[in-house]
Amino acid sequence: MKKPVIAIDGFSSTGKSSISKIIAHKLGIVHLDTGALYRGITWFALQNCKDENLDIDLQKLYSSFPLIHLEFKNVNEELVLYLNDKDISVDIRTNEVSNSVSFIAKQKEVRDFLLQFQQNIAEKGGVIMDGRDIGTVVFPNADFKFFLTASIEERTKRRYQELLGLGIEADVNQVRENLIERDRIDSERKIAPLKQAEDAILIDNSSLSKKETIERILSYINN
Ligand code: DC
Repeated sequence: MKKPVIAIDGFSSTGKSSISKIIAHKLGIVHLDTGALYRGITWFALQNCKDENLDIDLQKLYSSFPLIHLEFKNVNEELVLYLNDKDISVDIRTNEVSNSVSFIAKQKEVRDFLLQFQQNIAEKGGVIMDGRDIGTVVFPNADFKFFLTASIEERTKRRYQELLGLGIEADVNQVRENLIERDRIDSERKIAPLKQAEDAILIDNSSLSKKETIERILSYINN
């Protein structure tokens, strides 16, 4: 039997990636955190494509696309993002990247560059992909689509804990403001905005644990 293609979209810090990772393991399918790809491009731009005012020069970024090789490598059962053979899994979580990623992610050139990469991975089926436009644009024909949401208080708490866990210094108010601002830019952008696909199942996990959210999702898949 062909393994399913599962789309998990939703607001920032609703646990999409960590939940998807566990579901992938349980179902024996591949997990792809597409937010990490947008963060990877942003990190590259911040390192290599700044103009004299230290703003990101988009034209320079686009002409550098042939030099950007993103790859997920399996390291001790964890998928780790490499950019040109450098492990960038911690670099992409910094505040600097979080503050610029929505600006980079709303550019058509960037989205086109990453679309093919994402679609190629699911050619053989058996993938759970989390992001913002997976059910609407990347896999409109996914076998299962879920859209996760949670209160801003709960999401702030989760992102803050995640940053502390990675050893990245954080201020709760800044984390909160960044989440609100990113969700606003991601929802309002013209191309592939963050929105629930009409046929996606909505899950508000404000008062659900990670385990309960996973059980809820699996109850639809294993039905
Ligand atoms: O999931 P995340 O918070 O790591 O994602 C970082 C940013 O990348 C997010 O603010 C919007 C963008 N993104 C996107 O536009 N489309 C996706 N499929 C995934 C992420």
